[in-house]
Amino acid sequence: MNLIIMGAPGAGKGTQAQIITDKLGIPAISTGDILRGAIKEGTELGRAARSYMDRGELVPDDIVIGMVKQYLSSERCKNGFLLDGFPRSIEQAESLARLGVKIDAVLAIEVDDEKIVERMSGRRVCPGCGASYHLKYNPPKTPGRCDRCSAELYARSDDNPETVRTRLATYHRQTEPVKKYYAGQGLLITVDGNQAIEEISKIILDALSRLGSKNDTDKK
Ligand code: AP5
Ligand code: MG
Repeated sequence: MNLIIMGAPGAGKGTQAQIITDKLGIPAISTGDILRGAIKEGTELGRAARSYMDRGELVPDDIVIGMVKQYLSSERCKNGFLLDGFPRSIEQAESLARLGVKIDAVLAIEVDDEKIVERMSGRRVCPGCGASYHLKYNPPKTPGRCDRCSAELYARSDDNPETVRTRLATYHRQTEPVKKYYAGQGLLITVDGNQAIEEISKIILDALSRLGSKNDTDKK
């Protein structure tokens, strides 16, 4: 399956992406994780992206589109993928369509803005595998260490309340219209993200399973 997961900053895209891709055996492609990796390595891509990310604004489309194109053409995506954090503008969605990439479903996680700041302030992430934890809602088994790769967890620099507010505004202005774009194509699956992590995963996996059965029937 070729999937997209959308939602405001802190809606739980990364958390659900990990659960879904583990279950379906497809790779998650998080543009945010790729950009943070580039910043850490000090590459040209990282240098170009850093100031936008620090301000909570979108990195320019041409940079991000080129990056995603490269990932999607790799061998590991040939049996499907889940895009986390892309597309984030109508221009990005249209460029994905121009690449000839067929999307099976777009998952939109909806969370009230008031909840977002609390989720961000308690978030800790893994620099190794990108796994996302929360001090209260999703703590690691060993405090401060990733369950999957034991790396030391850190708080993201763009998770301070001021940048979170800018990120939310950017989301409402530039990314929300993308939901309408996919709703118009009958691909949007909206999920209430104000519930517990496990509840949300169950709803998403049930919806994907129904979709898989429907696609199989349509093919016959
Ligand atoms: P990106 O890394 O994609 O950040 P984001 O969209 O702001 O989303 P987050 O990763 O912050 O949140 P999430 O939805 O993954 O939530 P998580 O699962 O971690 O992008 C960062 C920046 O990169 C952008 O601002 C932009 O500059 C740039 N960028 C990236 N992609 C781009 C693109 N396509 N174009 C241009 N620029 C781009 O969960 C959050 C917290 O809540 C965690 O602590 C988690 O444990 C907890 N949590 C999760 N679910 C629940 C739940 N149900 N209940 C309670 N707590 C929960
Ligand atoms: Mg994320």
